[in-house]
Amino acid sequence: MTGSATEPLKRRILETVAARRCTPADLLRELGGASRGGRRAVRRALRELVAAGELRYLLEAGRSWIEPSFGRAVRVSARLVLCPEGGGLAESPPGVVVRIAPGAAFGAGEHPTTRLALQGIDFALAGGEGRRAPGSRVLDVGTGSGVLVIAAVRLGAARGLGIDRDPCARFEAQANVRLNGLEDRIRVSDVPLAAVEGRFALVAANLRAPTLAAMAQSLARRCMPGAALVLSGIRPPEESGLLEIYSRFGMRRVWRETEGGWVGLVLEPGG
Ligand SMILES: C[S@@+](CC[C@H](N)C(=O)[O-])C[C@H]1O[C@@H](n2cnc3c(N)ncnc32)[C@H](O)[C@@H]1O
Repeated sequence: MTGSATEPLKRRILETVAARRCTPADLLRELGGASRGGRRAVRRALRELVAAGELRYLLEAGRSWIEPSFGRAVRVSARLVLCPEGGGLAESPPGVVVRIAPGAAFGAGEHPTTRLALQGIDFALAGGEGRRAPGSRVLDVGTGSGVLVIAAVRLGAARGLGIDRDPCARFEAQANVRLNGLEDRIRVSDVPLAAVEGRFALVAANLRAPTLAAMAQSLARRCMPGAALVLSGIRPPEESGLLEIYSRFGMRRVWRETEGGWVGLVLEPGG
């Protein structure tokens, strides 16, 4: 069959893939319906979306998955666009661009936990109430590629500190800070959280729930009055226990989002 797949079908595929992890067979079954023609249309739409750089195939544990591709500029929140180094900026959607070089460190945007953290940061810095306005400082705990601290500074925070215990991640984060021209505003360090001094208007941590639980007091202590604490890396069954722990340190939830079986949260002091 010739011709291009329909745009509504492509949109449905992109929405489905953004909402949760799918195999090509899942998409054929759910969107192709019972008819052979319907499944053929889904196959054609998938081919075209992969060829256009919108989606990619990923082979994991012997299974093939369809995922959003970050080989091109992709909008990840209301204002943020992630763009790979050398990626097609001319064609990127309008927004605040964060450039990330391909590397081994976590945080190129492929993972839902990174995207949820970026959405939380966008929410936290969108207030315009002066609490997290210019002059504010950001702390990114487990900075990986540096994506969260870079995004926060690109969204208006004055200065940022990204800490990570992995020297390879720190090397890549520093390179990404330079790539975004922010070396005079962002510092990348191996200092442990317990030794970080001062308090911050925005604190972000995309780590697994047991680590977030163990760090609760230290993270809450690093928040100044009116600050936002962005947490990601949480599975839905872990959320209520984590909120209970953070409430002991006066933090209450003000924002929540989910994607692909993960939860992102923004907490504020004052609970
Ligand atoms: C899931 S990645 C998050 C990367 C990036 N912030 C993002 O949101 O995509 C977690 C990062 O935290 C670092 N990390 C894990 N435990 C840490 C700890 N206790 N102190 C500092 N860094 C830690 C890891 O080395 C890794 O780079």
